[in-house]
Amino acid sequence: MSAGTATTLVASVSDHARDFPILSRPVRGKRLVYLDNGATTQKPRQVIEAESRFYAESNANIHRGVHWLSQHATDLYEAGRKSVRQFLNASKDEEIIFTRGTTESINLVAQSWGRANLKKGDEVLLTAMEHHSNIVPWQLLCNQTGAVLKVVPMNERGELLMDDYQKLLNARTRIVCVAHVSNALGTVNPVEDIVRLAHGAGALVLVDGAQAVAHQTVDVQALNCDFYAFSAHKLYGPTGIGVLYGRHELLQAMPPWQGGGDMILTVAFNRSTYADVPQRFEAGTPNIAGVVGMAAAIDYVQSVGLDRIAAHEQELLGLATDKISALPGVRIIGTAERKAGILSFVIDGIHPHDLGTILDMEGVAIRAGHHCAMPIMTQFGISGTARASLALYNTPEDVDALVKAVEKAQSMFGLTETP
Ligand code: ALA
Repeated sequence: MSAGTATTLVASVSDHARDFPILSRPVRGKRLVYLDNGATTQKPRQVIEAESRFYAESNANIHRGVHWLSQHATDLYEAGRKSVRQFLNASKDEEIIFTRGTTESINLVAQSWGRANLKKGDEVLLTAMEHHSNIVPWQLLCNQTGAVLKVVPMNERGELLMDDYQKLLNARTRIVCVAHVSNALGTVNPVEDIVRLAHGAGALVLVDGAQAVAHQTVDVQALNCDFYAFSAHKLYGPTGIGVLYGRHELLQAMPPWQGGGDMILTVAFNRSTYADVPQRFEAGTPNIAGVVGMAAAIDYVQSVGLDRIAAHEQELLGLATDKISALPGVRIIGTAERKAGILSFVIDGIHPHDLGTILDMEGVAIRAGHHCAMPIMTQFGISGTARASLALYNTPEDVDALVKAVEKAQSMFGLTETP
């Protein structure tokens, strides 16, 4: 891409900032520079209005009502399922389960598929860069079943060691669980290769897509994964709603993991029978407004264009990486060849939490700490990082504000001359 084209792209994608009401509110008397998108993205007016319109015009419980409004709400909820199916290019609506988010999706697989299928000595293969939500559910499962956790190591750039991965795969490996994009390092993992090799060894693959879906097109059929999990709130949608994609034949063979209304066919005191998928995994009244909001978020990112968003964020990541690395005493944590818009770094002489607090005084919102990925921090020999994570509405001015605020922090700590 030429510099001229890149500049035009950055301007045209970040023009959408005007869709996000919160971005025009000042914070601590300063312009808000929101760079904590890995934690959660801000919401465009289109999503806020869709959720609010649902409550104003369409609210009723779903799947159970004989009245018009209930049928209308059910139609909206099921239209949300179609929209997610199309977004992930899944082959059937039934492959889309609504959950509270990525964490619940992973726990669902561990507790339903895992408890039904794993036995003592089986192996669950994770990677060294997983978020706690793709570690702890598997530890719980291993404690319950006697299965064993194994870990694929990574190098000092934050890239998986694929030779070690191949060596770890064996006839006891039942499932491989991998982040599509690392939340702490930004690494984009080679999921297609991981899936191909896992399937060759007879293992399933669960992909944690929490940090991927807002930053690149995801096609579960092309990835050929068995499970894919994501949360709407990192995709410009509401909190408390997310998705588990699962291959239909796998989901059909899985037992329920939560019991309640809407997931049964018949209930008697001595025995209950269960609904088919997806209802089997959606016990109780779900987050109906959340599904409507998530569908609006999907429409929104598709109208902007995921390819354009990805190119825009790559442009800003390059800019931010160059400018932050040029500061004295900075070490970038996560320098993989393939990265999404996440820049984690540490600075000599300033604790990441202190840095985060000083940046906040300048209106710059980042995340500081271990990012729920403590094993990564252990490998790099640090307690945490400062992390700037990008979204479609960020601009080169946001990157400059970040750099200026970091320079100010360094100067306050007496590490450099006053800028
Ligand atoms: N997992 C989210 C993050 O990385 C909360 O910040």
